[in-house]
Amino acid sequence: MEVVIAKSSKEIGKQAADLVVAQVSQKPYSVLGLATGASPLFLYSQLIDRYRRNAVSFAHTTMFLVDEYVGLPRGHVQSYRAFIRRVFTDHIDVPSSAVHSPDANAADWNVACEEYEAAMEHAGGIDLQVLGIGRNGHIGFNEPGSSFASRTHLTALAEKTRCDNAQYFSEKSKVPTHALTQGIGTILAARHIVLMASGAKKSRAIALALEGPMTAMVPASALQLHPHVTVFVDDEAGGELQHFGCHKDVALKIDAFDNAG
Ligand code: GLP
Repeated sequence: MEVVIAKSSKEIGKQAADLVVAQVSQKPYSVLGLATGASPLFLYSQLIDRYRRNAVSFAHTTMFLVDEYVGLPRGHVQSYRAFIRRVFTDHIDVPSSAVHSPDANAADWNVACEEYEAAMEHAGGIDLQVLGIGRNGHIGFNEPGSSFASRTHLTALAEKTRCDNAQYFSEKSKVPTHALTQGIGTILAARHIVLMASGAKKSRAIALALEGPMTAMVPASALQLHPHVTVFVDDEAGGELQHFGCHKDVALKIDAFDNAG
């Protein structure tokens, strides 16, 4: 696990964008996993900017959202599908048919979840998964107590999560109570995971996830099992880390040292 502490969420966005651009340049048919929420917003605006400057094309990529609210009408402005279109995919050259999200409006959620897993597998699996983290350590909508082996499933949102997400709705009672989410097992199957967090309100979750014991009570601690995770945090979100973390320039020197054998 590499942990990079940057000065600001803007800086995190730039550095994460470097990784995504490198991934897509190396493998134009990359399969990308996308998170919603505030954490990756600078990443997406950076990628749009680089696409406009012809530094990257997403024309051959396939994208899968990590989660989707249940109970919102199709196309609702706060659905994650509408969100990702608004902040990212409508502004780049990925075909809209190549952007997938769990079908939370399906008649049968179990079938929708199975189909979502099958679609990811058919696409060749996720090459690079972008993640945010909830204040309670959730990834996707895998709330505390979620199995590390879980695959895409229907889940109930924790009250803390509903309070955090109330800012996007006119009142808290309008925040959906359930969602479809990739499971932790699904997320861990990605080849490379990029976790992004900024602000002091994420510092506890980040410290517990990276340095605490692995426990289902901190879903993001499952990332300790994965061989290739890159964590980008700003100074505030990394503020409670004791053992991990170095600034990007130090990380680059360590890489150079490793390569030198
Ligand atoms: C949300 C989403 C996650 C997101 C996380 C953090 O509820 N389900 O996919 O990564 O919580 O959100 P934010 O980045 O807005 O803090």
